[in-house]
Amino acid sequence: MSRLDSMLRRLSAQRDGLNWAAGQIADLPGDVLDMGLGNGRTYDHLREILPDRRIRVMDRVLQCHPSCVPPEADFLMGEAEEMLDRLADEGARFALAHYDFGQGIKADDVAEAARLSPRIARVMAPGGLLVSGQPLTGFEQVPGPETIARDRYLFYRA
Ligand SMILES: C[S@@+](CC[C@H](N)C(=O)[O-])C[C@H]1O[C@@H](n2cnc3c(N)ncnc32)[C@H](O)[C@@H]1O
Repeated sequence: MSRLDSMLRRLSAQRDGLNWAAGQIADLPGDVLDMGLGNGRTYDHLREILPDRRIRVMDRVLQCHPSCVPPEADFLMGEAEEMLDRLADEGARFALAHYDFGQGIKADDVAEAARLSPRIARVMAPGGLLVSGQPLTGFEQVPGPETIARDRYLFYRA
């Protein structure tokens, strides 16, 4: 598969997965966490589909499209370990979290996701949903929407 095809599959899986997850948490109160602001695409989508939720977003750098700059109070700028610990100490418990860290080197991305998983677990509400581009550990994997191949995007319940 070309990298172009792979990227198209990833983007549509993100959109379908986030849309599906937004419906799944309709009865679960709580904020939303987007791990990896990047260009701001998934953050912008979450804002659109969950307009009544507070959306916190994390990245080590602010380099998104100007239309997607988050409010200062919602942007966690820094390394994931430190930011997740800060959220846990604040008592944050998310109903939905999207994991989109990574740099496209599979072995490194998988290792980072495994390393961060225990810290992510500390900030999830019981029954909260995780939507992830990388395998996470220590959560119950659940089937996502049928339009997404099982290995393309992953879904977990905390
Ligand atoms: C694939 S991009 C995110 C794309 C974004 N969700 C979008 O839709 O535009 C991954 C982002 O995660 C950030 N990142 C990766 N590992 C990180 C870490 N350990 N701590 C903080 N930020 C990290 C990178 O700086 C990068 O901007």
